[in-house]
Amino acid sequence: MKDYGAHLVVDALLDAMVNMDERRKAIFVAFHDMIPGTTYVKPGEPWSPELRRAFARTMEEIKVIIDERRVGPRPDFISDLINARDAGDKLNDRELFDQIFGICGASLSATSRAAGGALYLLHTHDDQRHQLMGDPLLIPDAIEECLRLGSNGYFTFPRIARRDTEVGGTRILKGMVVRPSPLAPNYDPDVFPDPLRFDVHRKPKRILSFGAGPHHCVGNILGRTTITIAVTRLLARFPKAHISDPKFTPLYGGAVGELRLQSLPMRIH
Ligand code: HEM
Repeated sequence: MKDYGAHLVVDALLDAMVNMDERRKAIFVAFHDMIPGTTYVKPGEPWSPELRRAFARTMEEIKVIIDERRVGPRPDFISDLINARDAGDKLNDRELFDQIFGICGASLSATSRAAGGALYLLHTHDDQRHQLMGDPLLIPDAIEECLRLGSNGYFTFPRIARRDTEVGGTRILKGMVVRPSPLAPNYDPDVFPDPLRFDVHRKPKRILSFGAGPHHCVGNILGRTTITIAVTRLLARFPKAHISDPKFTPLYGGAVGELRLQSLPMRIH
């Protein structure tokens, strides 16, 4: 996870989306590593000094990026958002900052943890991985199956119930905080027969790993594409890669609601 998820995926995303240099990437990656800490702070408690420092540095850098783009626009989403702010006054400064911050943060953590989940599944199912190496055209559908089973967090962001209701026998009262799971429906046996079975030929449709409705992940195509390219290259370049410890047991951590594989020790030869 340190050598692959945290570098390859993160570097590729920050390069591709915002064309960041090494110094800037280091600032964003440092904040990305601290994000889980934000979810452990209890209501009313202050953030730790390290968390505040990392947040402040990222905020400063985003302000500089916004100023740079105003002088020299580029064909990227930041320039588009700034245009929306400046031309039609559709976003205020705070919203502009939050959009850039949210998109960079969301892309980094979700994609690297989904890539880790995909590698773990592929490297614990040798026969299926070999089929992909023999026919790389199968890889995009195989990544969809990886995303179904083990990629993303087990909670979405919180919602507040607008009326009393009942879901699957659980009463929910108006005003309650609700965190639906995007992962649970992916294991629904009525939709995905024998749901625990990993099958690169399954071609799962309607997985909920990217949420649903108005907040459906804006980066779903970028996330899927990044992982597909990263896995395709890795399988081609290191066909003998394997999990180094046959008794390896996955350990998950990260922010509350996240499935972030803590490590995946691999040998590449
Ligand atoms: C495989 C990788 C990814 C996974 C599994 C993933 C998963 C998700 C999920 C489940 C949600 C919905 C959360 C909710 O409903 O509360 C979401 C929202 C979001 N994602 Fe992703 N994501 C991925 C990649 C990305 C990328 C690459 C970007 C940025 C380019 C991104 C940006 C966002 C943003 C900004 C939202 C919030 C959308 C909104 O609230 O309207 N994600 N993502």
